[in-house]
Amino acid sequence: MQMLERPRRNRKSAAIRDMVRETRLDLSQLVYPLFLVDGNNIKDEVVSMPGNYRWSLDLMLKEIEHCVSLGIQQYILFPAVDEQLKDKTASYSYASDNFYLNAIQKIKHIFPQITLISDVAMDPYSSDGHDGYVQDGEIINDTTLPILSQMAIAQAQAGIDMIGPSDMMDGRVGYLREELDQAGFINTSIMSYTAKYASAFYGPFRDALDSAPKAGDKKTYQMDPANKMEALREADLDAAEGADILMVKPASLYLDVIALLKQNSDLPIAAYNVSGECSMLILAAQKGYLNYEAAMQEMLLSIARSGADVILTYFAKDFAKLCKGIKL
Ligand code: PBG
Repeated sequence: MQMLERPRRNRKSAAIRDMVRETRLDLSQLVYPLFLVDGNNIKDEVVSMPGNYRWSLDLMLKEIEHCVSLGIQQYILFPAVDEQLKDKTASYSYASDNFYLNAIQKIKHIFPQITLISDVAMDPYSSDGHDGYVQDGEIINDTTLPILSQMAIAQAQAGIDMIGPSDMMDGRVGYLREELDQAGFINTSIMSYTAKYASAFYGPFRDALDSAPKAGDKKTYQMDPANKMEALREADLDAAEGADILMVKPASLYLDVIALLKQNSDLPIAAYNVSGECSMLILAAQKGYLNYEAAMQEMLLSIARSGADVILTYFAKDFAKLCKGIKL
C-alpha cells in the first residue's frame, strides 16, 4: 500500500504515546469532596457510593492527613446535618456552635497549606430540602440571597479559602461578592456552580446528606439538561459578578458544555464529576463489568480533554494512589 500518512506510527510504543499525549491530568487539578457529620469516631459508609464516608471531625482530620500525604491539596466539604437542626431559614448554617464552621476552623488550623472549599446553599440545613427559601411551594430568589450571605460570611470568618455557591439563585455571585468585600473578606474566592443542571445523578449525594427536597424538584432553579446556550448566559453573568472559577455540573454527561465555557471564558473552568457518575462506575466495577482503574482514569481524562482545568471528583484519592504507584 502507498500511504504517506500513517497515524499509527505515533502510537507504536508506550514511550512515543507518552511523548505525543495531548491531555495530561495532574493531581493538583483534582478536588476531593468529603462529607462531615457531628460527633466522634464516626466513619459511616454511604451505601449508594461505596468507598465514600460520612466522617466525624476527629477521623476526618486523620483522613485529610493521609490524603495530604498522597498529594491531594484541594478539598470540598459538605455537612450532613441532624434533621432536628433544620428549619425554614437554614439558620443553623450560620449558628455560632455549628459543627461545620468549627471543622473548617480546625482543618485550616492544622493544614494551613491546603485549599478548603465550602458549599453555600440552603439544602443541607433546610427543613424543605431546597437550596432556596420556600414559600407556598415556590423558591423565593431574593429572600434567599441574604441567608446565603450570612452563611458565606460565617464560613469566611471560619477561614474557608473559597466558597462554592451551589444554589443557582439569580444574582447570588454578585450579592455574595459585595457582602464578603464589605465584611472585609476580599480574599475569599468564589467558585460558582455556574451551569448546574437539574440532574438525576445527584441521588447518592442526597443520600449521603439526607438532603433530598421534601416536595417538588429543583427544576425552577437548576438548569434544563437540554440547554447549552443558557450555560453561556450564566457564565457571562457569573464572570461579570466577580466569580473566580466557573463550574459545570455534572461533568461526564456535559462535556460539550465544559468545552463551550472553556472556549468562551478567560476564567478557569471546573467540572463536578458528581456522585451518580461515580456510583455507576464503582458498582459496575464491583460486578466485574468494568475495569475500575482504567474506566475511572478514562472518565477523568475525558473531562480534562473537554476543557476542564479543575475536576471535583470522588475518585481523587484513588487517582492519587495510582500516581504514587500504590495498588488499589
Ligand atoms: C446542593 C448540592 C448538590 C450537590 C452538590 N451541592 C445536590 C443537589 O443540588 O441536589 C451534588 C453533588 C453530587 O451529586 O456529587 N446544593
